[in-house]
Amino acid sequence: MNEYNRPLAGKVALVTGGSRGIGRGIALALAKAGAKVAICHPGDERAAQTLAELQQYGEALERCADVTSEAAMVALFDQVCTLLGTPDIVVSNAGILHEAPLVETSAADFDRVLDVNLRGCFLVNREAARRMKSGRIINIASDLALLGRERMTAYCASKGGVISLTRSLARELAPHILVNAIAPGSIDTDMTSVDSMSPEALAKDLATPLARFGTVEEIAATARFLAGPEAGFITGQCFGVNGGSVMY
Ligand SMILES: NC(=O)c1ccc[n+]([C@@H]2O[C@H](COP(=O)([O-])OP(=O)(O)OC[C@H]3O[C@@H](n4cnc5c(N)ncnc54)[C@H](O)[C@@H]3O)[C@@H](O)[C@H]2O)c1
Repeated sequence: MNEYNRPLAGKVALVTGGSRGIGRGIALALAKAGAKVAICHPGDERAAQTLAELQQYGEALERCADVTSEAAMVALFDQVCTLLGTPDIVVSNAGILHEAPLVETSAADFDRVLDVNLRGCFLVNREAARRMKSGRIINIASDLALLGRERMTAYCASKGGVISLTRSLARELAPHILVNAIAPGSIDTDMTSVDSMSPEALAKDLATPLARFGTVEEIAATARFLAGPEAGFITGQCFGVNGGSVMY
């Protein structure tokens, strides 16, 4: 092991929604690169298994903490700072999807999606900004923020907000903290499970130049790059890891 295959040795990372899916993949990639990693989730039974996997690479911790709770996010950052150290890398990944025609979307449905995806991202970014002296913030958006998608208005609006928040914060926290977003295309996880999709929805997701779903590892590799020493001149960007669904 050396600085080339463990470029994040000595760093502390926090990944929200790191118990499964894309968040788990990012947490594992950062741990393999040498970082101590904390994950949070709102009560996901898979968190214990993910923690055990992370601990194969070094120190790690998991906490049940909902990103919509201001008190829970303050407490989470307090615990990470005490037990692992001040985070150098914060990944705001926690998210939910709500699918329904707009006329059938209640104000409560809309609020819930915005609460987790955008307000949660705000709370996590704010706690990171209050504590970090330097480092990287990475926010997980979506290609649908840029494409738009019928029956997913609240979700797309929330992810558009994540991209705008990222750009504003990149300006505000420069030059010591770099803030970027990743906007994945379709990735086969619990949220977008190939097995549970209608043929029409699947066809729409596959109508891209690369005509396939991406993998969790492909998103994680981008996050690891953005967290690492080679990405020191990159801030305020939104990385489309999307098989060509959106071309910037
Ligand atoms: N899967 C895709 O195709 C896709 C595409 C673009 C963007 N994304 C985004 O990637 C991120 C991860 O999604 P995924 O596909 O891995 O889905 P997933 O459902 O497998 O994982 C979501 C994670 O967020 C956590 N979470 C949900 N609500 C939370 C809350 N209130 N507080 C804390 N944690 C919470 C869950 O416990 C889980 O760990 C999301 O922000 C999602 O919008 C996913």
